[in-house]
Amino acid sequence: MSRIHKLSPQIANQIAAGEVVERPANAVKELVENALDAGARRIEIEIEEGGKKLIRVRDDGSGMSGEDAILALQRHATSKLRDADDLFAIRTLGFRGEALPSVASVSRLELTTREAEAEAGTRVVVEAGVVLDVSEVGCAPGTEIAVHNLFFNTPARFKF
Ligand SMILES: Nc1ncnc2c1ncn2[C@@H]1O[C@H](COP(=O)(O)OP(=O)(O)OP(=O)(O)O)[C@@H](O)[C@H]1O
Ligand SMILES: [Mg+2]
Repeated sequence: MSRIHKLSPQIANQIAAGEVVERPANAVKELVENALDAGARRIEIEIEEGGKKLIRVRDDGSGMSGEDAILALQRHATSKLRDADDLFAIRTLGFRGEALPSVASVSRLELTTREAEAEAGTRVVVEAGVVLDVSEVGCAPGTEIAVHNLFFNTPARFKF
């Protein structure tokens, strides 16, 4: 029997998340970069217990459709890059399609978003990378991301 085995996608994701988000400040940086990429003019940041208990970033940027809100939380899903040529002309702060799924795989994340012209917004709740709920909600145009209990399921990273 071989000593080496492939990790399950869920554990692999949790470990990969540690590369993107080493500590709470990285999560704040990623969320603020997304807000700036979305053309936000105003960004509000709320932090509790150094970001371990809560990080909330809300912006008045473009917002997302319901379909995009779900895609945004999947790995390697981005609106900022299409093919390899685009890598030579990056005009955004992000392009990997890694940040949101990474943060979502090591926390309980609530994404609430609405495009200005849309009649309703969308809320997606994810815990440890698993989508728990998707619902239609009333909200202001833009995006709010609340990250609860960062690293609750990754003791190694929490210690780091
Ligand atoms: N605040 C936001 N407002 C509008 N759209 C957003 C916001 N945050 C994320 N998105 C959308 O979700 C997608 C995924 O975000 P994510 O941060 O995971 O990846 P990225 O920004 O494309 O690349 P990177 O992983 O390098 O940050 C983005 O490409 C963007 O389309
Ligand atoms: Mg990003």
